[in-house]
Amino acid sequence: MGSIKVLINEKQIEKRTEELAKQIYEDYKDKDFTALCALNGAMFFATELLKKIPLNIPIELIRPKSYIATETSGDVAYDNRFNPDLKDKNILVIEDVIDSGYTINSLVSKIKNAGANDVKVCVMLDKFEKREIPYDVDYTGFKIEDKFVIGYGLDYNENYRNLPYIAYVDGDIYVEKDYTNIKTKD
Ligand code: IMP
Ligand code: MG
Repeated sequence: MGSIKVLINEKQIEKRTEELAKQIYEDYKDKDFTALCALNGAMFFATELLKKIPLNIPIELIRPKSYIATETSGDVAYDNRFNPDLKDKNILVIEDVIDSGYTINSLVSKIKNAGANDVKVCVMLDKFEKREIPYDVDYTGFKIEDKFVIGYGLDYNENYRNLPYIAYVDGDIYVEKDYTNIKTKD
């Protein structure tokens, strides 16, 4: 069985989120925009980020799904329970991680096809090593090496999303039901 290792701790996430929020505030203080949070992965990041931007920001939700366990599927599907009206809006997409690039490329095309005026993208993590389709992200939290990560919204088959930090499993991946059993050297 593997062990869970912290990659980015809560303080580091907080600090970087603060920096991104300042940058986004400067870029958007003179124009309206709508935040579009990509569920479920970006929910923790989006709420922390948006709380730090002192502007009036409508929030919409969308739910792309492309990962099965730890493999990207390339095929991006959308949960049709979320169908936000994006027409003529300036959209800031908030996404958990860009890896192959399939999800973000699909998402941005979908938003443009829905008649958005402008689309910018903010990702918490950039796993740059395995990009298959490039995408020029506007705001990036952390660039990380090619590791399957969990926590702070990121899941392994819907597990671990509510870990308060970003971690990876060293060794074989497993599901820990009681987080107090997780020993981190943080
Ligand atoms: P891409 O389509 O390969 O760029 O992958 C992006 C999507 O896959 C993200 O929206 C995540 O939901 C998921 N994903 C990519 N890497 C990870 C990871 O390390 N842990 C959990 N989910 C991931
Ligand atoms: Mg996601």
